[in-house]
Amino acid sequence: MPPIKLINIVGARPQIIKSSAISRAIRDHFPGSFTEILVHTGQHYDKELSEIFFNELEIQKPDYNLGVGSATHGRQTSMMITGIEEVLLIENPNCVLLYGDTNSTLAGALAASKLHFPVIHIEAGLRSFNKTMPEEINRIVSDHSSTLLFAPTNAAFKNLMSEGFKPENSPPYTIDNPKIYFTGDIMYDNTLFFADLAEKKKTSFLEKLSVQRDGFILVTIHREINTDDILRLEAILSTLKTLAEEKEITFVMPLHPRTTISLKARLERLYNELLNCKYVRIVPPVSYLEMTFLEKTCMLIITDSGGVQKESHFFKKPCIVLRKETEWIELVKNGTAKLVDADPEKIRNEFEKFLQPGTDLTYPGFYGDGKTAEFILGEILLMFDKG
Ligand code: UD1
Ligand code: UDP
Repeated sequence: MPPIKLINIVGARPQIIKSSAISRAIRDHFPGSFTEILVHTGQHYDKELSEIFFNELEIQKPDYNLGVGSATHGRQTSMMITGIEEVLLIENPNCVLLYGDTNSTLAGALAASKLHFPVIHIEAGLRSFNKTMPEEINRIVSDHSSTLLFAPTNAAFKNLMSEGFKPENSPPYTIDNPKIYFTGDIMYDNTLFFADLAEKKKTSFLEKLSVQRDGFILVTIHREINTDDILRLEAILSTLKTLAEEKEITFVMPLHPRTTISLKARLERLYNELLNCKYVRIVPPVSYLEMTFLEKTCMLIITDSGGVQKESHFFKKPCIVLRKETEWIELVKNGTAKLVDADPEKIRNEFEKFLQPGTDLTYPGFYGDGKTAEFILGEILLMFDKG
């Protein structure tokens, strides 16, 4: 039997990281069963948001880099669709694998489904129920263009059912007869695989940042709603700076370029104050192993990132979420993540509560067994009758 030709579409940082779980599972468990073609849309292009992960996570170099870069949503997505369509026509794959909810995901879903290539969506079914966030439209369209949908959580699986997807569908699966699964999260596969390596390779990173193990707060901010709304960005960062100074605890902030650009252009004074603050370390985006090590060794995480919210749970760290809502609702129900929007009072209250000694938190296994990528690949083989 010839191998299944699978096109992986990535573009943004988290997708590159996620795709490494699938590639590793192919290498380790299904050698010879798949041929992988990697398409990088070029949505992320800075070394720290792209190249660094290829080297560190041993991902094959992209077979195609569409070099799309940054632009408005419509322009960026349309350039990606054009580029992906060309690749699909050249490669004629058996299926197209999409990750998450970025514009690269959306473009892949539209290009592939219109050409009748089966779409496989990893991280399907997540909903914030806020259609003003760009990712929500991307999620809905991608799910409804897919043939196999892998929901990472029970909540995501239920969302799909409430949108009419039927778990009882039987093969052959098509876009009109799709199959939904509740799997687990491939990001958890990655964390389990890389946590020890991060510890081994990145111990000196804390020294470089002049912070102590279990003695600092980790912060990431990159969502459009926080970076492009200056009032929100100012409220969040000035609150964090005040807390850092008051409590004399260092806040490590690996900032997405989008956040730095916004700060420099529109909040220059605050940016300089943060750079000069004894208790704040603003650094460029860090590598995955560095990030993993920071997550493992911090006291608490403050973020608006989807991936980082989950990683906080993997490392049993409380998480303050700088959003009104989250797709990872089980974390909030569990009490280990708190939604604070950009509200200074809520940020402060939750920060103080989480850091109170004796706070009793538990971290149940919401995200599978660390073998989600393996499961997904097994199901793809079955779809093509090669299981
Ligand atoms: C994108 C995703 C978001 C995801 C995030 C992961 C969409 C709509 N958003 O957001 O869901 O959480 O990636 O990190 O797909 N920029 C650079 N260098 C780069 C890339 C971007 O400086 O390599 C700057 C540019 O100013 C650009 C801005 O960041 O305009 C936003 O980039 P973009 O790819 O549009 O969205 P992200 O905010 O990265
Ligand atoms: N990440 C990283 N370096 C950083 C910030 C994040 O390697 O400086 C990793 C993080 O560990 C997680 C992923 O990037 O695996 C999350 O991506 P991001 O926050 O950009 O996007 P989201 O998950 O919100 O879509």
